[in-house]
Amino acid sequence: MSGTILILGACGQIGTELTLALRDKYGTDQIVASDIRRSDLAELQNGPFEILDASNADALRAVCEQYKVHTVYHLVAMLSATGEKFPMKAWDLNMQSLLHVLELAREGIIQKIFWPSSIAVFGPTTPKEHTPQQTIMEPSTVYGISKLAGERWCEYYFNKYGVDVRSIRYPGLISWKSQPGGGTTDYAVEIYYKALEEGRYTSFLSEHRALPMMYMDDAIRATIELTEAPVEQVKVRNSYNLAGISFDPVTIAASIAGHIDGFEMDCVPDFRENIAASWPASIDDSAAQADWNWQPEYDLEAMTAAMLGNLKVKLGL
Ligand code: SER
Repeated sequence: MSGTILILGACGQIGTELTLALRDKYGTDQIVASDIRRSDLAELQNGPFEILDASNADALRAVCEQYKVHTVYHLVAMLSATGEKFPMKAWDLNMQSLLHVLELAREGIIQKIFWPSSIAVFGPTTPKEHTPQQTIMEPSTVYGISKLAGERWCEYYFNKYGVDVRSIRYPGLISWKSQPGGGTTDYAVEIYYKALEEGRYTSFLSEHRALPMMYMDDAIRATIELTEAPVEQVKVRNSYNLAGISFDPVTIAASIAGHIDGFEMDCVPDFRENIAASWPASIDDSAAQADWNWQPEYDLEAMTAAMLGNLKVKLGL
């Protein structure tokens, strides 16, 4: 590959870890990190970093030209819970930035795009268990509407202009290096912090509200594997289902209680319960497995051990 890799949203939950993983793999200078703000993580500052608003088409173009960017990982989005508070802002941010990147690829300024979709593209009328790759999609959040529209645009640019854009419908992502913000699945990260810090947690989802989730290491590996897969293996050009681990608050709490004596959880559902209720409980990712050999590594127990072990060190406990 000639040219560099640009990460949009490099200070976010996924962007932080993807930047570090790609710098490990290809060398620091090959990976240009960008965001609207600087990161607090010193590790991210050790290498090319640009302050960039991805909804500013001219600024985005200038960075792509300056660094001779080959591949863009577009990780800028307003997530589901914040999106419900600011619907127009969520739509503008989520759509404009994607369209700018697709246009740069159509013009041949960049050659490849990774763009994340989400389980939020599904809605209340979608089959809830083992949700298939192709099914009813009637999302009821502005975030889900923007992701579904984005999927259609990705496939459109591939079919009409040959743009090499690849995408995954991420489940809720669980990580210790960087925190999520404004999502409905964030409870499954908060619960680990609170378990260690306070020995108890109040969930904003109800006891048996199961959702598909994934440990960040698996998500980063999936992202790089799909983006680097030979072109003939990438048969889905809207977005691939990715399954991960499905659990509800009671089940993750039990897994944590296996490591922290006396850990307790109660549930006080808020508006995010309604968002979660509209999403699948589990996902069928057989297309990703068949096309580019996807296999997750972490189950709930492995994830809990990794989260608690790493967070203990991070929090100095
Ligand atoms: N994690 C996201 C959210 O909760 C779903 O993609 O909004």
